[in-house]
Amino acid sequence: MPIKFPFKKDKKQPTTEPLGLEENHIPKHVAIIMDGNGRWAKNRGMPRIAGHKEGMGVVKRIVRYASDIGVKVLTLYAFSTENWKRPKNEVDFLMKLPVDFLSTYLPELIERNVQVRTIGDFDVLPEHTQKAVKEAMEKTKDNDGLILNFALNYGSRYEMVHAVKQIASKVQDGEVDISDIDESMFSKELYTSELIEPDLLIRTSGEQRLSNFLLWQLAYAEFWFTEVYWPDFDESHFEKALYDFQNRKRRFGGV
Ligand code: IPE
Ligand code: IPE
Ligand code: MG
Repeated sequence: MPIKFPFKKDKKQPTTEPLGLEENHIPKHVAIIMDGNGRWAKNRGMPRIAGHKEGMGVVKRIVRYASDIGVKVLTLYAFSTENWKRPKNEVDFLMKLPVDFLSTYLPELIERNVQVRTIGDFDVLPEHTQKAVKEAMEKTKDNDGLILNFALNYGSRYEMVHAVKQIASKVQDGEVDISDIDESMFSKELYTSELIEPDLLIRTSGEQRLSNFLLWQLAYAEFWFTEVYWPDFDESHFEKALYDFQNRKRRFGGV
């Protein structure tokens, strides 16, 4: 049975007819590279951080939509291990965003039964960022609705090197035999060990690359790209991505 969700439109949004999604074929795990905030702002003669601020509002809407249609895990790339290269004021702003986001939105996440998680090297984040995110994780840890997974200071290569070191040290300690190392053991050493693999990867802003995001976990994900900058992304784009996903044939190497 196709399901149609009327989009909650704000004044910026034109009315869009829902495409109709197959209720029993919603991707379980959707990962998004939210890109294009800086260019969105630049096109409007605004500082890059204005794009990040606008992008935060989009996160709220997309989380609502994902939780409404029954996505199980939504992983959002918020800050990469390479993003530290950016000007200090921009990095500072990006580190403050989770604080702002959660200070206004945590009650709704709780009400929606959303569980907040993170992947990435968390311990080196600024104190205020860690505090806000830890509080959200603590307050939502027993929720069993949508898992909202923020990739914060995340880099896939770092993650994999870390996993290799963990396994190597277990071998050294005699806990693991080299012949026992397999894909499943490796996966268990990744930040994503408790999550299912993404079914669908979305990247906005026209770039078609992974930028060090979930290199292992996306092995069999479907990719969906759009020219739209993240601050302009809305429910109708998300629905189109899901609709296209539903019309793809995944073979996983079979026939
Ligand atoms: C994505 O937008 C947000 C982050 C990387 C934190 P960008 O800031 O990369 O925007 P562009 O790609 O420069 O337009
Ligand atoms: C990827 O976007 C990181 C995030 C969206 C958080 P970037 O804008 O940093 O990636 P590149 O530099 O275009 O590859
Ligand atoms: Mg970018």
